[in-house]
Amino acid sequence: MTKLFRNGHIFAALSNRCKYSTAPKSICTLHINDKEYQSDNFTNATPKIISYLGRNLHLQKGHPLSNVRQRIVDYFYKSFTHRGNPTFSVYDNLSPIVSVKQNFDDLLIPLDHPSRAKSDCYYLNKETLFRAHMTAHQSELLHAGLDNFLMIGDVYRRDEIDSTHFPVFHQVDAVRSQRKEELFVDHPDLQIFEPIFDPQYPEAFTNSTTDAHKQSCHTLEATKLMENQLKTHLLGLVQTLFGNDIRYRWVEAYFPFTHPSWELEIYYENQWMEVLGCGIVRNEILARAGPNNSIAYAFGLGLERLAMALYKIPDIRLMWSNDSGFLNQFNNKDVNAKITYKPVSIYPQCVNDISFWLPNNITVDTFINNDFYDLVRDIGGDIIEQVKLKDKFIHPKTKKHSLCYTIVYRHLERTLTKAEVNAIHKEIEKAITDSYDVVIR
Ligand code: DAH
Repeated sequence: MTKLFRNGHIFAALSNRCKYSTAPKSICTLHINDKEYQSDNFTNATPKIISYLGRNLHLQKGHPLSNVRQRIVDYFYKSFTHRGNPTFSVYDNLSPIVSVKQNFDDLLIPLDHPSRAKSDCYYLNKETLFRAHMTAHQSELLHAGLDNFLMIGDVYRRDEIDSTHFPVFHQVDAVRSQRKEELFVDHPDLQIFEPIFDPQYPEAFTNSTTDAHKQSCHTLEATKLMENQLKTHLLGLVQTLFGNDIRYRWVEAYFPFTHPSWELEIYYENQWMEVLGCGIVRNEILARAGPNNSIAYAFGLGLERLAMALYKIPDIRLMWSNDSGFLNQFNNKDVNAKITYKPVSIYPQCVNDISFWLPNNITVDTFINNDFYDLVRDIGGDIIEQVKLKDKFIHPKTKKHSLCYTIVYRHLERTLTKAEVNAIHKEIEKAITDSYDVVIR
């Protein structure tokens, strides 16, 4: 079980004083899963976010996310075997609390990359965060000597609030490596590495990604063969889930940890939807973690998107529902059964705007929207269906800056009364006033 803070007092101190301000007013010790983390001016993980730890929806039997996870694992088990044993090993219980090194540095993510920003991640302190992607475990597992593996779990990102975004979601990430003898079984004369590159001394060679088609250390044959396998296997996966008729397209992409890189999109409900990112693992990552004689491909996909499309689940918050009307539609069924979600019932929305004047030291452009979204979610919980910025305004005379957001409230399982929504809305107004010195208009 997730243990939050050692005692209620410290918890209260964090929730009241450290939470929303850019710099915590006091140093707190956070106790999570029997480990201690000292807060600092990076700390921005809220109690609400911490409360999602340990839910492990991807492992909850009969849950739609668990069913999709099972189908993906089955696909890899069936497609790749070695002497009757599955080639891939599966890690679905790794701790979501990781170091900055694991989440970014080991993956060659530049220091100034926007994904590292406090406004995008939940940090426990400047060295530790809730993993923002499952790729965070790639290097450590390579280092442990693994070559073909799947990493499955919950990931955390600060983001907008709407029917397809939730600050916690689930990913499957994978690495498939091959040595020369495996890759070129039928062509023993072909090589993975360019002759000028000595894999024994990978650091002696500056691997470059300036050529759009391949990393400078790799031969074109090895890269093309891997690309071909990667695309065949991932398309096979998507066709296994959605059927052979699914419309798809490959799009060139950029990730700091792969080159070349692609995204796979499928056509769903009249638009293209990105379902996964992938590419050839940068050789520096492999060489640093251990294997210096192989080439690997990697990919990462989001389970929520696939499950929502597969079962026609209209709102991502439903994934967190404990309502039996939702869960029983997926429970105790064959994981491969074709299921279409039937809305339990649709309860009305309640829409309320909130506008406030910002203090002089914050402008409409420096105010961090994600800070506001977290505050709203912390107070309103899962009845917050959507928060969107409606208007930015600068008073022509006083030059005062003001923001207006629309908050859409909807409970998934019952009708909300106007009075209870108003009470929550008032609480949000009070919290934003206390935390940012704003003045409600
Ligand atoms: N980690 C990426 C994300 O969360 C997805 C991804 C892309 C994972 C390419 C990979 C990869 O392993 O090779 O957006």
